[in-house]
Amino acid sequence: MKKLRSQAWFGRRDKNGFLYRSWMKNQGWPHDLFQEKPVIGICNTWSELTPCNAHFRELADFVKRGVWEAGGFPLEFPVMSLGESVLRPTAMLFRNLASMDVEESVRSNPIDGVVLLMGCDKTCPSLLMGAASCDLPTIGLSGGPMLSGKFRGCDLGSGTGVWQMSEQVRSGEMKWEDFFQAESCMHRSKGHCMTMGTASTMASMVEALGMSLPGNAAIPAVDARRNTLAQMTGRRIVEMVKEDLCMSRVLSREAFENAIRANAAIGGSTNAVIHLIALAARVGVPLCLDDFDRLGEGMPCLVDIQPSGQHLMEDFFYAGGLPAVLRELGEGGALHRDVLTVNGRSIWENVAEAPCWNREVIHPFQKPFKPNAGIAVLRGNLAPNGAVIKLSAASPHLLEHRGRAVVFESIEDLHARIDDERLDVDESCVLVLKNCGPRGYPGMAEVGNMPLPPKLLRKGVKDMVRISDARMSGTAYGTVVLHVCPEAAAGGPLALVHSGDMIRLDVHKRLLQLEVEDGALRARQAMWTAPPLPKRGWERLYVQHVLQADQGADLDFLVGHSGAKVARDSH
Ligand code: FES
Repeated sequence: MKKLRSQAWFGRRDKNGFLYRSWMKNQGWPHDLFQEKPVIGICNTWSELTPCNAHFRELADFVKRGVWEAGGFPLEFPVMSLGESVLRPTAMLFRNLASMDVEESVRSNPIDGVVLLMGCDKTCPSLLMGAASCDLPTIGLSGGPMLSGKFRGCDLGSGTGVWQMSEQVRSGEMKWEDFFQAESCMHRSKGHCMTMGTASTMASMVEALGMSLPGNAAIPAVDARRNTLAQMTGRRIVEMVKEDLCMSRVLSREAFENAIRANAAIGGSTNAVIHLIALAARVGVPLCLDDFDRLGEGMPCLVDIQPSGQHLMEDFFYAGGLPAVLRELGEGGALHRDVLTVNGRSIWENVAEAPCWNREVIHPFQKPFKPNAGIAVLRGNLAPNGAVIKLSAASPHLLEHRGRAVVFESIEDLHARIDDERLDVDESCVLVLKNCGPRGYPGMAEVGNMPLPPKLLRKGVKDMVRISDARMSGTAYGTVVLHVCPEAAAGGPLALVHSGDMIRLDVHKRLLQLEVEDGALRARQAMWTAPPLPKRGWERLYVQHVLQADQGADLDFLVGHSGAKVARDSH
């Protein structure tokens, strides 16, 4: 076995060795733990302000069991936690900050291997990104989805149910009292959102990338088998340290290609595009927006789960979970089979025999739930550097559409006017929202799925084309063009759209075009002024350095990796 990194702290016979060990011993650790035992850092995003991760102390205890059993020395440490449902203005503003916390915590401590405890949306990519920039042996463990929401005899999915019911309230179909009653019915157990929102998507990405043990994505948080998986994860990371199986050996280009295809097959979140691009850049794997279109083209959606379908993560688990989906991809020729995973086996070795128990939830590759369901990348004079649309959640009749723009300059402008009965809008219009990108919001909020005007909801309109530089919750749905790049606040053409302009969307041709003559656009460009920088603190640093969505919205100085070497002693 390679010399343990932690021995540079704990294995010393000098004054510094005394200092490193002695203070740790105030926790009661016996001396032999500091001698040649793999030290496993358990990177915990537990917080009572992150309800989706509130059970992580218990989960960490099961990881520790496994580490002890395998002869390691587990040490749990906290990092910044990001609760999607409560953090304002948006958890995405802090993804890169949390990744810095992870990177520096891992590098600066006597750690030989890392277990990442991930759950709520941004707590997954931030931990992966931070750990990737250190590149120690690392394994992911997700917290698992909540049990299915149940309301008045029906399933009620996280997020997706909120969007549906709030439109019913706005159209007058549902009373506020009934809406509020649904609160405690939707989220009734530990765990993260149980639709195929961003958390479930990213947990699936972790598994598809080979960064977790098989089964990670779907086991419900409260199922005893989640604890078993945690214990097995603890055992495995000790072996990974002995094998020196670092993160960069798992995160190959082929692993990312598998993840992109898996994302199409599960009807996964558009947020995965941004997170995977940012993660790939941390490990130096070239990955760009067009890879999602090229690899996702013609890819079917196999999983009937909200928001693209009707079932929930609990059903997905009982049907076989992600291993059953990966097996379908493998048999359909859409999986790199030889890619190494954290258990030391290839991804195909892990899933070749995976059973499917319910074909209503997981469809076969040859008879998919929806054909052509990958994420499409659009370009044109409105999005020179690209925009994305999630085909599995869009309305087929709107994929080729030309309509009059109804423009909102900001989210505040949208809120002020969307419910106004005098708003000049009909169902053929295209709703456009500006200044909600990485720099503009800042943080690129999940507001791209703009609510529809109540007067159209009352007419029975269920979907309209919506375009913005924002993101959208993975639990949301509709014909929603997102991540328009460059964003309005960076002077992108989106900033130049006026109400009344005609916009053409042709998803089959991958086109997003503003039908305004070049001369008129140049004149509008000359009048445009950049928004002022935030005055101080993290927001200022973020806006100064954040990359555009097509580059993963990482900070420019965080791209890449520095390894785990620490330059100097502290004493
Ligand atoms: Fe935490 Fe959805 S709010 S996963």
